[in-house]
Amino acid sequence: MVLLLCLFFFTTRTLELNTISLGQSIKDGQTLVSASGSYELGLFSPENFKSWYVGIWYKKVSTGTVVWVANREASISDASGVLSINDKGILSIMNGTKGTVWSSNTSRNSAEDSIAQLLDSGNFVVNDPNDSDSENFLWQSFNYPCDTFLLGMKIGINFVTGFDRHISSWKSMEDPAPGLYSMRIDPRGLPQLVVKKGPNITSR
Ligand SMILES: *[C@@H]1O[C@H](CO)[C@@H](O)[C@H](O)[C@H]1NC(C)=O
Ligand SMILES: *[C@@H]1O[C@H](CO)[C@@H](O)[C@H](O)[C@H]1NC(C)=O
Ligand SMILES: *[C@@H]1O[C@H](CO)[C@@H](O)[C@H](O)[C@H]1NC(C)=O
Ligand SMILES: *[C@@H]1O[C@H](CO)[C@@H](O)[C@H](O)[C@H]1NC(C)=O
Repeated sequence: MVLLLCLFFFTTRTLELNTISLGQSIKDGQTLVSASGSYELGLFSPENFKSWYVGIWYKKVSTGTVVWVANREASISDASGVLSINDKGILSIMNGTKGTVWSSNTSRNSAEDSIAQLLDSGNFVVNDPNDSDSENFLWQSFNYPCDTFLLGMKIGINFVTGFDRHISSWKSMEDPAPGLYSMRIDPRGLPQLVVKKGPNITSR
């Protein structure tokens, strides 16, 4: 009996996946859990099941504080969302009618057999199987911060692409879309870290 119980716990534990690959998906009721169990990724609804998002939250905090949202500006109206990865290493979220509501953007050449993994840092990454440098991700959520600055994230402006990587508040408790407040690098003069309310700097 004890052995059976152990087996049961062992098998349920191994069901806590932290990767998805081609042909696999995450839908309502399924999640990825980082190896040490710190972070969990899946579908969630911040507002009475009216709008749904794919996000990452602290698994060890009972309130499940959300730290990152993929489709923060493109909610799904029901729990039908499905997250998957295609043969080009691009992540996408589809709604119940198979419309793509969000997809990841990869700057480099696509790679077959890419695997998306939720790391213990809270970073959701797409590995490039063709790159011997396993840290050279094809895509990573840390490049697209939401309202939470996690250890290992960087903010600032890429002067080549003009991409302004910054932290921004949620619009409201129920709406993770970018809100009024942001924390970003102001590149004018000596670059400095500023907090803005809309276009106005409130602290530096
Ligand atoms: C699914 O997404 C597509 C594309 O964004 C959209 O046109 C369609 O209305 C959505 N369907 C539902 C049921 O929300
Ligand atoms: C993807 O990245 C390219 C190049 O950085 C950019 O021009 C394009 O707008 C991005 N697309 C999306 C959907 O973010
Ligand atoms: C990755 O490696 C595989 C096998 O070596 C090769 O077939 C494929 O074309 C490579 N893909 C890219 C994008 O370099
Ligand atoms: C920004 O500052 C201007 C001028 O003081 C003010 O009129 C405006 O309401 C402020 N915007 C926000 C979002 O606080």
